[in-house]
Amino acid sequence: MREKILNILNTNAGHIVSGVEISNQIGISRVAVWKHLKKLKQEGYDINSSSKGYRLADSENLLYPFCFKNREKKIHFFHTTSSTMDSARKIAKNNGDHLSVVIAENQTKGRGRLNRTWFSSPGGLWFTIILKPDLPPPLSFKVNFAASLSLVRTLNRLFKIDASVKWPNDILVKGKKLAGLLSEMETKGDMISFVNIGIGLNVNNSPKKNEPKAISIKDITGKKVSRKKILSSFLDEFESKLLNIHY
Ligand code: BTN
Repeated sequence: MREKILNILNTNAGHIVSGVEISNQIGISRVAVWKHLKKLKQEGYDINSSSKGYRLADSENLLYPFCFKNREKKIHFFHTTSSTMDSARKIAKNNGDHLSVVIAENQTKGRGRLNRTWFSSPGGLWFTIILKPDLPPPLSFKVNFAASLSLVRTLNRLFKIDASVKWPNDILVKGKKLAGLLSEMETKGDMISFVNIGIGLNVNNSPKKNEPKAISIKDITGKKVSRKKILSSFLDEFESKLLNIHY
């Protein structure tokens, strides 16, 4: 129900939508609409309410499937999950498509390499891409490499950020960690059955509290930026790089 409400507000992004209109569109009472909106605001969604209705102030930071029109069917959004790696593994095993993307607003048990804890503070971009490439396991490094390079390139194109890859999993800016990549693979016979690439990118969050040597895009640019744009641009870049990986 809340996803439906957000979808309506997103379609009218920047404009006020009355409670009556929302209740008519989804067929619930105005009181129910009010309760859902209260909950959404508590969850941190940037919604202004007035006597005229409700307005989504920041549609650029919604990450629901309906925000990604050309790939809506392959986006899996969780408001909260243990780790997008866990959710992606289940989806991959359950016939999930190549290039499905699993996104979470919150992770209760985000993890990094070597079983380290990955702190997922609100405002970051936490996602895992499911890949089912036609590759043998020893060549899986190619897709990891393509993901790191695509991320660096996207950050440079969108924000002129000069990031570098510290192989195998860190994206650094002036020695500080902006993003981390984690890959998990399952094989079948001589081939990869799936390889899931998890990316944790500090965007509008303040990672310094938990990780003194971390930095976010907001720390670098001094302003809140669009997670939706970053993810879309990254996926475009990554998909085109994947086309050049052959066995
Ligand atoms: C590392 O630097 O060690 C890798 C960090 C990877 C973090 C991301 S956040 C999305 C995905 N879900 C997780 O639990 N981990 C990865």
